[in-house]
Amino acid sequence: MRIPEHGLARQELFELLERHRADDMPWRTGRTWAYVYDPGPEAESVIKDAFTAYLSENGLDPTVFPSALRLENEVVSMAAAHLHADGDVAGSFTSGGTESIMLAVKAARDRARELRPDIDRPEVVLPETAHAAFQKACHYLGLHPVLVPVDPVSFRADPDAVAAAVTDSTVLLVGSAISYAHGVVDPIEELGRLALERDLWLHVDGCMGGFLLQYVARLGRPVPAYDFRVPGVSSISMDLHKYAFAAKGASTVLYRTKDLRRHQMYACSNWTGYTVINPTIQSTKSAGPVAAAWAALQFIGDDGYLAWTRQVLAATDRIVAHLDAHPDLRLLGRPDMNLLSFAADGLSVFHVVDEMRERDWYVQPQLAFGSSPENIHLSINPASVRWVDEMLADLDASVVSARDLPSGELAAAIDAEFGGIDPDTVSGETIEAMLALAGASGDALPERMAPVNEVLNALPVPLRERLLVLYLNDLFRQSP
Ligand SMILES: Cc1ncc(COP(=O)(O)O)c(C=O)c1O
Repeated sequence: MRIPEHGLARQELFELLERHRADDMPWRTGRTWAYVYDPGPEAESVIKDAFTAYLSENGLDPTVFPSALRLENEVVSMAAAHLHADGDVAGSFTSGGTESIMLAVKAARDRARELRPDIDRPEVVLPETAHAAFQKACHYLGLHPVLVPVDPVSFRADPDAVAAAVTDSTVLLVGSAISYAHGVVDPIEELGRLALERDLWLHVDGCMGGFLLQYVARLGRPVPAYDFRVPGVSSISMDLHKYAFAAKGASTVLYRTKDLRRHQMYACSNWTGYTVINPTIQSTKSAGPVAAAWAALQFIGDDGYLAWTRQVLAATDRIVAHLDAHPDLRLLGRPDMNLLSFAADGLSVFHVVDEMRERDWYVQPQLAFGSSPENIHLSINPASVRWVDEMLADLDASVVSARDLPSGELAAAIDAEFGGIDPDTVSGETIEAMLALAGASGDALPERMAPVNEVLNALPVPLRERLLVLYLNDLFRQSP
């Protein structure tokens, strides 16, 4: 594709943009049970207007755009107060959970470099339910993740397993509030005690739950302590583009003290251009996301968030009750918020996902890992609340249909054909053969994803990852 010789007319251009999203998931309908955090049309329009109002202001230099600095300081102050921080807490506004996590991991690494220069192979202890962003951060920053099992019934981190994994090279401990996969809060108080005993940095990943859990607790539900009131917590990441319903590109990372945040900062005057001073990973950045996050918090307000929390929790309770009574489906853990997952006994969850898709619902498949079997994940959003009964009826129907579909045969074929393959040396042809077996070769995405998911689920993790990297490398394809 080439830049058009003459610019397109505004109308034609927007028609094209609209047509481009014809195959997207219809998220506005409320039938999509993951990825979407929909605040409803009124708040959405306020947030969009705030975003575009600040689209072109550059957050790169706060001395030139003090408005961006002020918005960031106000948003981060609101986030800190929300997490019961005292006056010493210091934070930053970032582009998302992954960036917040990346920065907290970098800060912990650099503090360890300063205090413990003897550590030459720094390790991060991660419960196996910790978000993949921590392993990505380790990958980018040259740290070594040490995965530890979680409690196989509650899916909460096991503090004894974490303690057993701590070595002289440990630089960081991690707990989640909530974990994405099962929607539960880890025992942060026990992890905090361990962090204090061993003089270690403890990061709490509140990207998904940090914001809404405060309202869950205010509604009288039991929420394990996870915020700055817990001794031993060094830093917390909390996204605003999830359940604070801000526009995407909005998260916060907060440190117990300004001195801890110092390790996040970067400065460079070792070149011919302007001096670079960056608190976060991005340099030139639109002030749109921070203005939109500020607008979401101001427009929805405390009472608005409380009301929404009440609604999504009531819907979650109905789904949990339905799953508890279902003969074939099994809830994994007990959700502390509005995210949950469930497994199926004697049939393939991947077929259930496809059958739901046939009925116009998006529910998210999760592969087996550690003590967690393959399962279906649901995020229960305000926009989905009105659909609960219909969704559950279709879920029951999908389970009945899935029972008649073949399952396990592909996994057996994969095992027979590719069982002993070394992921580091596997050839492109072998990967092609695996994709073909799953029906995922060629240009188009397969109609049904169950075979692909079954193949991925059956492969050892390093092979899964290798196959996914090659698939992704192929998916982003540029035509000349
Ligand atoms: C618990 C948790 N941490 C981190 C992340 C990563 O956030 P992002 O996708 O905004 O980078 C997510 C995303 O869902 C999450 O659920």
